[in-house]
Amino acid sequence: RIVYVNGAYVPEEEAKVSVFDRGFLFADGVYEVTSVLEGRLLDFEGHMRRLRRSLAELDMAAPASDEELLEIHRELVRRNGVEEGLVYLQVTRGAADRDFVYPAGVAPTLVMFTQEKQIVESPAAERGIRVISIPDERWGRRDIKTVQLLYPSMGKMMAKAAGADDAWMVEEGFVTEGTSNNAYIVKGGRIITRHLGNEILHGITRAAVLRLAREAQMEVEERPFTIEEAQGADEAFITSATTFVQPVVAIDDVEIGGGRPGPIARRLREIYVEEAR
Ligand code: PDD
Repeated sequence: RIVYVNGAYVPEEEAKVSVFDRGFLFADGVYEVTSVLEGRLLDFEGHMRRLRRSLAELDMAAPASDEELLEIHRELVRRNGVEEGLVYLQVTRGAADRDFVYPAGVAPTLVMFTQEKQIVESPAAERGIRVISIPDERWGRRDIKTVQLLYPSMGKMMAKAAGADDAWMVEEGFVTEGTSNNAYIVKGGRIITRHLGNEILHGITRAAVLRLAREAQMEVEERPFTIEEAQGADEAFITSATTFVQPVVAIDDVEIGGGRPGPIARRLREIYVEEAR
């Protein structure tokens, strides 16, 4: 596989980043995951807009222009022959002596790679996933897409250990989001998902799916919901760049919609894939 590191396309074995890189020592960095379908990037502009915002919130320099980043995305997809999968992009603050205070003018580190993944033909989307609930113990700025993914990673491991697929995180009694996706329920035909704020990542897929839902005359309500409300809902689902729309069929072992994917989640997935193609 060919990866990109600070201006060069190299085989992954030859890629090098300093051990003093602050991404490695402090999780001082941000990332984006853009999906690839039929060799094309999905919602690239949205991902770049969010990247700029993440960088600005952390007072980090942008490593390249959007045009240059687009060119690197395309080149990696081409060189690795990716038809379906994703491009991962990471910007860290760069290498500096280990100190909580960082010096001004450190050159950022830009790393990008591709990963093949079947997104459209997905057994998980066919059967629906099971989630558990766990407390949300992340930091307070989840709207910034940082590489601090230890808690979400532990959450996914807790889910696996419990025989489930993923975890929904709960704060002050309300669901924030999934470990790496946004969370939704459906009640009486109405789609309910938490409003935007610092408590969740502003999903690019979320924005697209809500737009498509509204265009299809579906009702959308952006407000928090509890696990109890979700367990009593008609349907539940998640969205992310690498899963699109995926139905949730059980929450803490309570089955939703008879344990089968619901019609609205299915429909939204269809519409989303249709538009992406
Ligand atoms: N995760 N919420 C969290 C905490 C996420 O990590 C993600 C994305 C999302 C969905 O955002 P989007 O629709 O823009 O992908 C919501 C990516 C896919 C990841 O970490 O691999």
